[in-house]
Amino acid sequence: MNRDDSSAYESSTDPRCVPIRLDGQAPEGAAIPYPDYPTADHATWSKLYARQRARLSGRACREFLEGLEAMGFPEDRIPSLSSSSRVLEAAAGWKVARVPGLLHEEQFFAFLARRVFPSTDYIRPPEEMDYTPAPDLFHDVFAHLPMITHPGFADFYQNMGRCALAARGADRRRIERFYWFTVEFGMIETSEGIRVYGNGILSSYAEIEHALGAHVVKLPFDPDRIAEQEYDVSHLQPVLFVIESFEQLTQGFEAWARKRGLGR
Ligand SMILES: [Fe+2]
Repeated sequence: MNRDDSSAYESSTDPRCVPIRLDGQAPEGAAIPYPDYPTADHATWSKLYARQRARLSGRACREFLEGLEAMGFPEDRIPSLSSSSRVLEAAAGWKVARVPGLLHEEQFFAFLARRVFPSTDYIRPPEEMDYTPAPDLFHDVFAHLPMITHPGFADFYQNMGRCALAARGADRRRIERFYWFTVEFGMIETSEGIRVYGNGILSSYAEIEHALGAHVVKLPFDPDRIAEQEYDVSHLQPVLFVIESFEQLTQGFEAWARKRGLGR
């Protein structure tokens, strides 16, 4: 969920952005088949990968870069979800499931709650290279999976799924905002300056440069404020939140959720 893949929570006229409900079990791990991709799809991956990889230095956080290294994605062809799932399982006890599109939020969070990341296995058409409103594997695989290899982030992500399932009404919406400003658009303070860990920024050609620019307001991590901060999926983000550490993120979310009766 991000600007690239739109959001499970925003209305859209693009049918690819209308959340779907699975009516059966999605294949997971070794059971995920590798599609017979046309050559053009591999070329799209290759171009997107090379272009975005070149933009990460000095922008992406160390944890993401280490995760990307651990994932070992091929540069010249689309990675296999089953292989990626194997890496995640060894690193953080997570698996990948293959889903056909944007999931209804309830099902999406149910996957996270049991340490499974639901990923698409198709890639954007060439005419949407710079921006696609729909979900695709470049966002899901390139941006999401590396961060999940980080054990602290992996635990936080699962807890977010659990708490979202427990939340109702306004609290569900608050968790969606939390998701947006951390998982998708989060930034972290480091000794070398502010870096990005948000997957929506990391997979977006425009957003990764924009987000670190001086014109974006960067606020200190504040769970109560994040939970009430509105956002617009259709524009580059004007306000972002910066964590001091992944421990702060994990503990801050836990404390906030507990206060609202959602967590342990
Ligand atoms: Fe996403």
